[in-house]
Amino acid sequence: MDRFIIEGTRELTGEIKVSGAKNAILPIMAACLLAPGKSVLTNVPNLIDLKTMAHLLRIIGARIDHSGDTMMIDSSDICFFEAPYELVSKMRASIYVLGPLLARLGEARVSFPGGCAIGTRPVDLHLKAVEALGATVKIEHGYIHATASALKGAQIRFEISSVGATINALMAAVLAEGETVLNNAAMEPEVDSVIEFLIKMGALIEGKGSTTLKITGVKHLFPVEMKMIPDRIEAGTFLIAGAMSRKPVTVSNCEPSHLTILMEKLREAGCEIDVKDHSIRIHTPGEIKPVNVITLPYPGFPTDLQAQFMALMTLSQGICFMEDTIFPDRFMHVSELNRLQADITLSRGIATIKGVKALSGAEVMATDLRASAALVLAGLVAKGKTIVSRIYHIDRGYDRIEEKLRSIGANIIRENA
Ligand code: EPU
Repeated sequence: MDRFIIEGTRELTGEIKVSGAKNAILPIMAACLLAPGKSVLTNVPNLIDLKTMAHLLRIIGARIDHSGDTMMIDSSDICFFEAPYELVSKMRASIYVLGPLLARLGEARVSFPGGCAIGTRPVDLHLKAVEALGATVKIEHGYIHATASALKGAQIRFEISSVGATINALMAAVLAEGETVLNNAAMEPEVDSVIEFLIKMGALIEGKGSTTLKITGVKHLFPVEMKMIPDRIEAGTFLIAGAMSRKPVTVSNCEPSHLTILMEKLREAGCEIDVKDHSIRIHTPGEIKPVNVITLPYPGFPTDLQAQFMALMTLSQGICFMEDTIFPDRFMHVSELNRLQADITLSRGIATIKGVKALSGAEVMATDLRASAALVLAGLVAKGKTIVSRIYHIDRGYDRIEEKLRSIGANIIRENA
């Protein structure tokens, strides 16, 4: 199993590039099932989660070719409607084939996703949405079995804002008969990106960028080519790395408008931020100030940057609090950060972070994707050597992170232990 060996320094500087957004590409790959023929996605990084989705789509009958940053998906011969346990248990985003398979084949059998390292993560909203569109859903032998002779437009109000349920409902509704209205839809940039892709394919969707989406069903969709949006969470992770350094770092190939709340919080923490069209330069001239964070649906502070921001706050000059309202138990990184001599306590879902003068290198273990990113950030600036094991978690969502971090002077190597 691979691990990272890191020698800490607070002298990171230079330019670091962002890749395409995993959480937009995963549903867009599934959306390719909606239109027979070859779709082409560009700016696609090399990530384990995308490989898992490609594996799943191949099982379903798609042909996929991923070379360089271009992925071709040919869904002319879709014949199988099952997402097996083996793949869903590796990656919950496999649930994204539910809507497209129902729309294209009238049937989907998807292994019921269990809990994961960041919490229980139910899928009830996905199921209610496809039921509202006329599907019959049965849970049997650990599988969701959904069937529909014809999907019909419906009014759907999500009880809570859900990225996944919004996208699954959209992908089912675009080929349904008549009009669908989604209320309290999620507004994350990844949702907008899926909407843009579906519209390019010929779908009729109004309301992009708002919480109310109106979809008028069409009979056919067509394969298309589209460049994938930059990954705002990868960009945010690198900005936080820059904030922890004493020298300036430029994060390039990113979309600054997707990072507004993070930049606000970083400025509050004392960072100087200079925004250009597709790049952000960050520099922390003085001490890091403590900043409280509560995660919320977009445009609020993203849960996917909570762990990384906490790593930054371990070095602040004071005390701050963090709460995750999206995944209230997403705090597995706390005890590992404390192994690096951070001072964090957790009580009733609120983390209290007391800044320390310096972190101290140690052996730590990654528990999930974003927790691993936080441990790498902490290791980058800790005194001495940090070893982060189980880094397969980080390879799920960051493409060659160690090579990118080396481009800004990090001393990090991958070792096969
Ligand atoms: N929820 C339900 N029922 C549902 C669906 C969601 O109660 O049927 C709840 C969740 O438990 C959570 C809230 O709704 O409390 C929001 O979850 P959401 O559905 O928005 O999350 P998701 O679609 O499962 C995506 C990302 C996550 C990211 C969240 C929140 C993908 C593949 N995953 O998950 O990304 O944290 O949105 O922004 O897009 C990551 O990349 O590390 C990651 C975990």
